[in-house]
Amino acid sequence: MNIVNFEKEHIDAAKAIVLANYSEEKQFVKELPDVNEFPNLGEFAENGLGVAAFEQDKMVGFLCCFRPWENAFGSTAKGTFSPIHAHGAVAENREMIYRRMYQAAAEKWVANGIAYHAIAMYAHDEKALRTLFSYGFGLRCVDAVRDMESIVCLPIQELQFRVLPKVEITKIREMRRQLSAHLGSSPCFMYSRKQEFENWLVRAEARNTDVYVAEMNGMPVAFIEVADDGENFVTETANMKNICGAFCLPEYRGNGIFANLLNYVVGTLRQQGITRLGVDFESYNPTASGAWNKYFTPYTHSVVRRIDECALHNIE
Ligand SMILES: CC(C)(COP(=O)(O)OP(=O)(O)OC[C@H]1O[C@@H](n2cnc3c(N)ncnc32)[C@H](O)[C@@H]1OP(=O)(O)O)[C@@H](O)C(=O)NCCC(=O)NCCS
Repeated sequence: MNIVNFEKEHIDAAKAIVLANYSEEKQFVKELPDVNEFPNLGEFAENGLGVAAFEQDKMVGFLCCFRPWENAFGSTAKGTFSPIHAHGAVAENREMIYRRMYQAAAEKWVANGIAYHAIAMYAHDEKALRTLFSYGFGLRCVDAVRDMESIVCLPIQELQFRVLPKVEITKIREMRRQLSAHLGSSPCFMYSRKQEFENWLVRAEARNTDVYVAEMNGMPVAFIEVADDGENFVTETANMKNICGAFCLPEYRGNGIFANLLNYVVGTLRQQGITRLGVDFESYNPTASGAWNKYFTPYTHSVVRRIDECALHNIE
């Protein structure tokens, strides 16, 4: 096997691999939509951080990533991310292809001071996942999808559901605050300082999303926020919406309120012609994992590896 830099002339072969790998995942996750248009791979040929694997004249895999950024994922490290359309490999010998590609790509990444490596894998690609796990990666983020079948749950008489009008968006501010505190605590540890949260809140309250609430006695006790797009090309397909936030007050959890609210979201979107609903969540958020995995099927597993700082002392 020969590993070379990823160049422009590799793009067509790479696209064919991206399509084949997506089709493979689709066989496991029937809710995934047909995708005809994949994102452009041009930037990966330009940033000099990608590699391609060849057996004789045949390209058997490629591994690229976005341009790096500082303080990745709230760390002090420079990081990069390889989304599901920025890498792939043929089925035969896949473990070895990923071993060789990651070794070569990571050499470049660390030489560029990139110490936080994140790669979005397909959730059912056990061979590739096992390979990266053995190379020090662990699960961090999950994309999941569902169809618009109703959710089986006992109705709760005292609950009312509606989409919160924009003028009332501050009614869920306290829940957003508690959501941030939840994400900042163990075992998530995605802590936001007060000012960071306030800055985020301004953006969140201005963004073009629909916030569905469950209310009791006129007070919201849970919300689900729905956006047009999520974090990968699948989420951008027609007739798909994506959940980008959810919270239920602790005293109202575990009693079906959330399932009823989700059912309301699904029913409302179905009437609008939406055929799929997506969500992404941190795998180490226990309540998110516990709730979403009941109603959605994971199709990506984003894995991360944090390179120890001593490696950066080796850069000339
Ligand atoms: C996510 C949330 C809206 C779901 O509402 P809910 O009423 O708790 O939902 P459910 O009870 O149906 O599901 C939660 C699941 O997580 C499990 N869970 C809760 N706390 C847990 C913990 N500390 N460790 C492991 N599992 C846990 C529950 O047991 C339950 O699973 P089960 O039904 O198999 O027993 C609510 O838990 C919440 O607001 N959590 C904090 C914010 C959050 O994580 N938001 C999601 C962001 S993507």
